[in-house]
Amino acid sequence: MAVATHPAVAEKPPSLDALLTLARPDMAAVDALIKRHMDSPVPVIPALADHLIAGSAKRLRPLLTVAAARLAGARDEACLKLAAAVEFIHTATLLHDDVVDSSQLRRGRVAAHLIWGAPSSVLVGDFLFARAFELMVGAGSMPALEILARASRVIAEGEVLQLTRAHDLDLSQEVYLDIIKAKTAELFAAAAESGAVSAGASPDRCRALRKYGQDLGIAFQLVDDALDYSGDSADLGKNPGDDFREGKATLPLLLVMARSGPAEREFWIRTVDRREQTAADFARTCELMRATGALQSTLDLAADYATSAKAALADFGANPWRPALEDLADFAVARTA
Ligand code: IPE
Ligand code: MG
Ligand code: MG
Repeated sequence: MAVATHPAVAEKPPSLDALLTLARPDMAAVDALIKRHMDSPVPVIPALADHLIAGSAKRLRPLLTVAAARLAGARDEACLKLAAAVEFIHTATLLHDDVVDSSQLRRGRVAAHLIWGAPSSVLVGDFLFARAFELMVGAGSMPALEILARASRVIAEGEVLQLTRAHDLDLSQEVYLDIIKAKTAELFAAAAESGAVSAGASPDRCRALRKYGQDLGIAFQLVDDALDYSGDSADLGKNPGDDFREGKATLPLLLVMARSGPAEREFWIRTVDRREQTAADFARTCELMRATGALQSTLDLAADYATSAKAALADFGANPWRPALEDLADFAVARTA
């Protein structure tokens, strides 16, 4: 008789604990670098930057750089500056993104542009980008600089592509995937790859960690897009419904539009295409998403990418960072925040 897995083991929710424990000393050093490089004699810069940066609980992307470097055998501290740079690149894009998306809440705090105004938010975003490049130069790895410079460009391309296709009812799933690969997964991929490169890993291992990061990033954004219709603002630290209000053609919306049939076509033209929405429209859309399985299909696809991310780590052998990164992939799918 086959031995059944103990339910308590099988159902244990994925956790970041192992990864956070392994990375604690490195992440403390990364935090110190972040704080030091946020500084500027122009007072609004550290004030605005700190408002956003201090609100980040998980620091997932720099964690990825550190973990990839250590998994690849890094013994020195070269990855720490890269990790701080990755967080600055991410934070810069968030400042710009919240202006572009007119978002009101970020990391559980009022969005910076609502406090300091859009011009300051955009310009401090530029400052953080510049700081990221100073840190990358300081890390002294031309290949890592190249990877993260390219990622900065690709993220901007993804954001612009999304902007120009925002409320396109006929957006293909292929273009949607191109958008999320560029705006989100590219930084995950580059974070992991640059960590591996800075550790002097072989080209195969650098490629494997890039693939892990990319698939993790795709899974992460798919879940993000599902949570925009099913999450809770207290958990998320941002307001669900932003994507719908903006008429953003994310996968849950593309699927529910395709599956709800011609009867709803007028509803989508009014709410998504023309963005004429009443208070009840968002709730109705969430209900249709549940009924048509659009949310579940989005989460299922995220789970497939998480599985693929874990498979990319197959050749790393016994190393405590590997199961910790596998947990991160599961966590990205199971998360509610
Ligand atoms: C943000 O994408 C991507 C970047 C900041 C580059 P979204 O606009 O979909 O993400 P949230 O919902 O604001 O976090
Ligand atoms: Mg946004
Ligand atoms: Mg956006």
